Amino acid sequence: MSSLKEILINKNITCKSIWFMRQAGRYLPEFRKIRDQNKDFIKLCLNSALSSEITLQPIKRFNLDSAIIFSDILLIPYASGQDVTFLKNKGPKLGEFNLKKFLNRDLDIFIKNLDPVYKAINQARKKLDKKKSLIGFVGAPWTLLVYMLNLKEKDNRISLSKINSKKNNLDLILTKLNEFICLHIQKQIEAGADVIQIFDSWAGEIPEPELNSFCYLPNQKIVKFCKLNKIPVICFPKGIKENYANFNKIIEPDGLSIDYDIDPCWAAKNLTNVVLQGGLHPKFLSESDEKMYVETKKYLDAFKDVPYIFNLGHGLRPETDPEKLNKLIKFVRKYI
Ligand code: CP3
Repeated sequence: MSSLKEILINKNITCKSIWFMRQAGRYLPEFRKIRDQNKDFIKLCLNSALSSEITLQPIKRFNLDSAIIFSDILLIPYASGQDVTFLKNKGPKLGEFNLKKFLNRDLDIFIKNLDPVYKAINQARKKLDKKKSLIGFVGAPWTLLVYMLNLKEKDNRISLSKINSKKNNLDLILTKLNEFICLHIQKQIEAGADVIQIFDSWAGEIPEPELNSFCYLPNQKIVKFCKLNKIPVICFPKGIKENYANFNKIIEPDGLSIDYDIDPCWAAKNLTNVVLQGGLHPKFLSESDEKMYVETKKYLDAFKDVPYIFNLGHGLRPETDPEKLNKLIKFVRKYI
């Protein structure tokens, strides 16, 4: 069994595991080389040979304990029929959401559109050492809705008026989205993914009274689906602060990825019966070695007596120096 699974399933505290969110991507020169020749990001995600190669790039370079499939959470809206484009230095831009088209989307067509992702998982799994996990992933419904309904304003805040105007149809949208997400998870498992991570990157923007309907319930449904399929699942409800404790009690995921706002000592005390992951602010990879080690030690010390997966409090930044990441990995391996 891979070290990641050994921790998530058996809560084995002697087993240590390191991987990084966004480990396959823009900070790596070998990725940039491929990216420069493949201007269309969605097409690149749907090129099975290249996406399995990109998935394995950080494993080859750093011998990390797990690989995460090179793909994107926005392939779900893409496969459901919405236009998705990635503008250089501006991030994703989605076409107008068409309710009727979305609700009537045939599940077979949806899956057919994503078939190259499953082929990429299959190819990567074959080349990956058996002792390493291959992580499949999805975006949580709320985070997908932020992009699908274009809820982000210029200042990066979320416009709730836009979602309120869709209130009557929201349950229908969430139900269909859950169906797409669970199917996508099932297909990733069949293709060879052995752990699933759910990214709820915009959960912190949900007003407190709506947390239950937009964050807890949708994540709970997906976690239940993963448990039914006997696959370990890690949740990442970024930005919900002390509500992490409620989230953990209600949803009961196998793993919980903490963001950089969560104090590690608070987490060790208040987030129990779950395997914790992550925490370190990615910005410390741009500071001095000493500062990076001091900050890293805070997490390693706080979690030394509990099962813990080393990772960051959000994804690796594009400006990260791969050599600096190498130093961090060496430090963590020596310390744990
Ligand atoms: O983690 C990995 O290495 C696997 C691949 C992966 C990507 N996106 C590749 C990618 C994963 C797990 C994601 C998840 C994702 N995508 C999230 C959740 C995690 C998070 O960071 O909060 C979100 C919100 C997205 C949506 C998305 N995709 C955005 C906002 C952007 C543009 C800016 C950015 O953050 O990179 C992307 C593009 C994207 N997805 C790139 C990569 C490598 C960069 C593409 C490029 O070369 O321009």
